[in-house]
Amino acid sequence: MTKVARMPVPTRRSVGEPDFLRQQVDRYYRERVEETWDGGHIMVGRTPGPDAIRLVSNDYLCMARHPEIIGAQRAALGGHDDDDAMLMAAVFLHGDNPQSRFEQAMADWMEAEATVLSQSGWAVNTGLLQSIAGPGIPCYIDMFAHASLWEGIRSAGARAVPFRHNTPEHLEKMVRRDGPGVIIVDSVYSTSGNVAPLADIVAIGERHGCVLVVDEAHSLGTHGPEGRGLVVERGLTQRVHFRTASLAKAFAGRAGIVACSARIAEYLKYTANPAIFSSGLLPPEIAGLEATRRVIAASDDRRRRLHANADHLRNGLTDLGYNLELSKSQILGLEAGHERSTIRLRDALESRGVFGSVFCAPATPKNRSLIRFTVNSGLNPEALDRILSVCADIRDEVDLASWPSTRRRSAVFAAVVNG
Ligand SMILES: Cc1ncc(COP(=O)(O)O)c(C=O)c1O
Repeated sequence: MTKVARMPVPTRRSVGEPDFLRQQVDRYYRERVEETWDGGHIMVGRTPGPDAIRLVSNDYLCMARHPEIIGAQRAALGGHDDDDAMLMAAVFLHGDNPQSRFEQAMADWMEAEATVLSQSGWAVNTGLLQSIAGPGIPCYIDMFAHASLWEGIRSAGARAVPFRHNTPEHLEKMVRRDGPGVIIVDSVYSTSGNVAPLADIVAIGERHGCVLVVDEAHSLGTHGPEGRGLVVERGLTQRVHFRTASLAKAFAGRAGIVACSARIAEYLKYTANPAIFSSGLLPPEIAGLEATRRVIAASDDRRRRLHANADHLRNGLTDLGYNLELSKSQILGLEAGHERSTIRLRDALESRGVFGSVFCAPATPKNRSLIRFTVNSGLNPEALDRILSVCADIRDEVDLASWPSTRRRSAVFAAVVNG
């Protein structure tokens, strides 16, 4: 296993740390690096070789090196006048400009009145919740919703009311108890690949006078007609107040966006902290995103291949005994559970040239760590076969039968078989 420095020794260049900080950092090295990871690091494995299959990137539709997108970025480099080169926060942006034109194009495409562009998915979620929630407002949030949404609740000073993952009955119980507030879900969950029961959640929100926020980071571009997202696919655009998305997934860029009413879009531009206190995007980035939007809209073939690849891998892995019951999308989580088991899985895969991403606490609950396979549209049948053959070979080495997720699946299976 790759070793990282155990408790690095201070050098002459280090500034002395007061006790409260030293103890905090020492705890990380002692409890995580030494005791759990045996001096290595769960996130740091082998370096992929030239033949490696990488299932790590969120570039689901293989947009990153698309010539049309690179061409648009190149053309915008140096091609804008000084007024467009916005080295300042978006709050200073007025009149006609590349950002407002892109926001309008995104709104039309997402079938919304308006959108607001932000620096990242993190910025858009924290800025939105900080602006629409506040002290005393209950924020009903799926337990597995993305960390940026939890952070938004915290920065609003609002109260998080978690509900059981993908369980509308539990959500409704909480809303009945605590009253109208903000309901917050991901459309596709980023570690398991599970899909939210959006129609049921919308209905609960409407029954109880709540506002609904859906994070479409993992469905914008990949789901719905022309990639417009899951809310469009389910015909719910008129019933969901806010759709947010990171544009660092299918859009392969660095930005975030929220779709909402024009009235609230204007309000967000002057109240969300990332819009006021952090610099906005540059014209070449916006030109790249607009070209990506056009390419994505015309990429039905890539979307079909993405979902066909994901279905093929999911079915194959399920037949091999991996529990992928929660995955309903292009995200496949192999949940080894304990961190040492996940390190063993990582090493078994990587030594055979298959690379996924490690997810562990705080991105997953403790002892539910996993390797995520992020499927993309460019994987060919040989690559898919190789992944399945590697996953077949390693089952004993990684002790698949003993994983908590395997035992959960077996228990459900036995219950069904035994009536
Ligand atoms: C569901 C979800 N929301 C938000 C984000 C944050 O996006 P970004 O990386 O653009 O900050 C992510 C990225 O991990 C995500 O998976």
